[in-house]
Amino acid sequence: MRRGLAAGNWKMNGTGGDLGEIALLAAAHPAPASEVLICPPATLIARMADAARGTPIAVGGQDCHPAEKGAHTGDLSAAMLAEAGASHVILGHSERRADHGETDDLVRAKAEAARAAGLTAIVCVGETLAEREAGRTLEIVEGQLAGSVPDGAAGDTLVVAYEPVWAIGTGLTPTTEQIAEVHAALRAALTARFGAEIAGAIRLLYGGSVKAANATEIFAVADVDGALVGGASLKAADFGPIVAALDARLG
Ligand code: PGA
Repeated sequence: MRRGLAAGNWKMNGTGGDLGEIALLAAAHPAPASEVLICPPATLIARMADAARGTPIAVGGQDCHPAEKGAHTGDLSAAMLAEAGASHVILGHSERRADHGETDDLVRAKAEAARAAGLTAIVCVGETLAEREAGRTLEIVEGQLAGSVPDGAAGDTLVVAYEPVWAIGTGLTPTTEQIAEVHAALRAALTARFGAEIAGAIRLLYGGSVKAANATEIFAVADVDGALVGGASLKAADFGPIVAALDARLG
């Protein structure tokens, strides 16, 4: 049984005054069966790691550079994130693919750098509304998966998040049938590439407008091992019930 993962993506939200959410979340969920992760802006990683010490909450980054170091103004290496206290890093989020022109090749190189630094990569894939309406959803996500996931992936170094671009921050979510179809296709593609044992250990998250009100329904879908949560991860009062819903499903 794969352990559940409830991952929060704070995006470009949060300053020092928001770190109190960690204590609130830990107090409400002192011993979750699921893994609980918050990925704050890079400026907060070290302080959040301090705030989370002694709690079950892990801290992650939202991006890293593929290189170990060098002349890359404004970028952060995977080793820097790890040193600051991160254990995970989100890679290839659709906002980075759109805002920064990130390609599958670049995401794959970042995932390799993350693994070399001991970080678990959460690699994101997902179709736009136009792609879904054109009937291209599986072709798109399978192509992103093939291009973005490095060889030698394993359950402890890779998590895949299916995030339909049209569901992010919109309040729209796919039907449970649509989520099930994509997750089954992702699991099948991972199985074809890595074999059943390795593919069976890689967690598949759903992301896009997950909130307490829809979490239980989404977590009941086959091959959904957790969620990548944006807006509803910013407050412990919103994220805690999502953790509870995941614990109730699979732990
Ligand atoms: P959302 O964002 O939960 O606010 O829709 C999800 C994400 O982009 O990871």
